Amino acid sequence: MVDVDTGIDDSLALLFLLASPDAEIVGIASTAGNVAAPVVAANNLAWLDVCRAGPIEVALGSLTPLVVPLVTTEDTHGPRGIGYAELPPSDRALSARSASDLWVDVARRHPGEVTGLVTGPLTNLALALKAEPQLPQLLRRLVVMGGAFHYAGNTTPTAEWNISVDPEAAKVVFDAFSAAALPPIICSLDLTETIEMKPDHVARLAQTAGSVPVEEISADHSEATRSTATNPIVRHFSDAVRFYMNFHRDHGQGFLAHMHDPFAAAVALDPSIVTTRPVTVDVELTGTLTRGMTVADLTGMWGRPPNAEIATQTDPEAFFDLLIERIGSWARTLYPPVAS
Ligand code: RIB
Ligand code: CA
Repeated sequence: MVDVDTGIDDSLALLFLLASPDAEIVGIASTAGNVAAPVVAANNLAWLDVCRAGPIEVALGSLTPLVVPLVTTEDTHGPRGIGYAELPPSDRALSARSASDLWVDVARRHPGEVTGLVTGPLTNLALALKAEPQLPQLLRRLVVMGGAFHYAGNTTPTAEWNISVDPEAAKVVFDAFSAAALPPIICSLDLTETIEMKPDHVARLAQTAGSVPVEEISADHSEATRSTATNPIVRHFSDAVRFYMNFHRDHGQGFLAHMHDPFAAAVALDPSIVTTRPVTVDVELTGTLTRGMTVADLTGMWGRPPNAEIATQTDPEAFFDLLIERIGSWARTLYPPVAS
């Protein structure tokens, strides 16, 4: 079960999962965050078309966070949340159920079997918990991309985006999952900002897909530059990530793109790619300067048992090797190169 605020890196998380033979997406929750929930849902449906995916239920989430008004970030992910990519609108129907109802039904139908992956705000998972308090026991495991521990935020000086959009929801989730058999794995900025996609990674993925010409993304290209890749998955992904690389460059982080969400997806499929440490985590809700901050009690000062595992170490290049091979070879199979 995947809960996304698609989103450029959410898009790559979906591609990675669709390309993974060991993954079956049993449902997609469309959560308001990077862009509004209906746009997230439209992006999810459109990617399923491009990826020639079978019928996967895509549900619309709450239009707003639990308490505060929605804040979106089109400057980071583009006017429609997928950078410069322009995906053909899908004719697929949205689920008649809400995202929170989908969470509850999937967990009840497959007790102990489903891994939940959240790469957006935790709004709809929190709503699902209110409807089904047993959710932590019904899910096999939860993996969350979010938070920042003893590390600068990317939305406020102390808060990471997914938590910052809906801190109340994050607190509901972290509190509730203290009762889970397997603690949630949190992929926070302190680790995901080491997952730096560079133009060479995109070029290698395109080459693996058999796409031509050589896929080149350069800081010197004009913003009007668009991919001419023969492989549609490469073409649309390249146009999406170009926007993200321009954003990171314009914010002094280098011409690269932090691939937070596909990394969390890879952890959901294989937790062995990270080292983790058990920690008690909570969320600041009332701090004047620190609202939305995720706080980790590393030494048990609160006297509360650990409620999460924070991913602390990984091998970024090993991750990119996996991502490139898996998505590239899958894209090649879906859209075989035309003999020239
Ligand atoms: O802070 C990074 C996270 O916020 C990523 O999931 C990105 O897609 C945005 O949702
Ligand atoms: Ca996201």
